[in-house]
Amino acid sequence: MKNIVILISGGGSNMAAIVRTAQAQNWAKQFNAQVSAVISNKADAKGLVFAKEHSIATAVIDHKAFADQPQPREAFDAALMAEIDKHQPHLVVLAGFMRILTPGFVANYEGRLLNIHPSLLPAFPGLHTHERAIEAGCKFAGATVHRVTAELDHGPILAQAIVPVLPDDTADTLAARVLTQEHLIYPKAVAELLAK
Ligand code: GAR
Repeated sequence: MKNIVILISGGGSNMAAIVRTAQAQNWAKQFNAQVSAVISNKADAKGLVFAKEHSIATAVIDHKAFADQPQPREAFDAALMAEIDKHQPHLVVLAGFMRILTPGFVANYEGRLLNIHPSLLPAFPGLHTHERAIEAGCKFAGATVHRVTAELDHGPILAQAIVPVLPDDTADTLAARVLTQEHLIYPKAVAELLAK
């Protein structure tokens, strides 16, 4: 079985879209694949509830627990890798996972690590993408599914979706419009990789 491990930090709506698509399209039969675990760096991430309701294994690795270690990021990533590797993943899918990963983590999952970012990369890597798109006067915004490389939000692009920026948009209204598209392109991009 090709195991998919999904990492979240919050609402987990992209994770839920992937889980729903996996069920609706019967990825188990079609690709011999399953979402085997959802892991969060926050115990109160709402997406964990959805995962449990769908009988998916969950785990929490709280990044704050590593704050007093000499190398907190490396220690957190090592603990995260240990948890992920219990599932021997075919793919590791970042879905609203709001931690910057160390080069060691990225190298460990090279070719298996995906992310979704709420902008039309290479425009607006980093945070506050919707505010920045509106401020820049962009007429279009969107989301990007990409492979993860050591440089933040810079890996090879697998899929993009474009939405208009409307004159009265706020960051929230634009984010909501983009998010509906994220829910379409992320499951599709994962399915395309599973089909290879
Ligand atoms: C999504 O918009 C995703 O693109 C973004 O966080 C949101 C998570 O929503 N990711 C990033 O900003 C990564 N830098 P979700 O938890 O409901 O899927």
